[in-house]
Amino acid sequence: MRKHLITAGLLLAGFSLSAPLLANTDQAEKHFSRCVACHLADGQGIPGAFPPLKNRLAKLSNSELGRQYVVQVVYGGLMGLISVGGQNYSGVMPAQAGDLTAKDVSDLLNYAVDTVDKEGKPEGWVPFSEKEVADLSKHKGNPMSNGSLRKRLLEKQPELK
Ligand code: HEC
Repeated sequence: MRKHLITAGLLLAGFSLSAPLLANTDQAEKHFSRCVACHLADGQGIPGAFPPLKNRLAKLSNSELGRQYVVQVVYGGLMGLISVGGQNYSGVMPAQAGDLTAKDVSDLLNYAVDTVDKEGKPEGWVPFSEKEVADLSKHKGNPMSNGSLRKRLLEKQPELK
């Protein structure tokens, strides 16, 4: 009897520990689905229309300015002629954060890197925190100014061209 109680207790403890973690991933996956609409589930994008997040997102977000850029693109959108891996894009990405909290956005970005850009993750890549996203998103820019921010980023880090 006692043994059963202990087993039940352990099961309950295990459940309450893992449930929030699972819910978190589910939420992140749900939020990331808005990006998937254009950048596709595998993050490859569509050449000439939607640039890839695969082999890109983690490298972009591996410096202070790059992290500012990525957060601003999510909150403020992006437009202007850009080039990724020799392919040109002149589309418009509308702002995406709308109804999301800073926690939602940090979870979404970490989820995106861990699913579509796992292999592109530079060593020592640091996941986004809720606080970082809250701070960085105070400057969200607009699609045009974020295009200029991208130019500055690529001047500073030509390896991202
Ligand atoms: C409606 C389509 C659409 C959706 C939805 C969308 N994007 Fe984009 N995204 C684009 C387009 C188009 C561009 C390129 C804009 C340009 O040509 O200037 C882009 C560019 C980007 C870039 C810049 C890439 C680089 O190399 O500089 C990042 C980062 C990005 N998107 C992340 C996201 C994330 C994260 C989400 C979800 C929160 C998302 N996008 C949702 C269309 C979209």
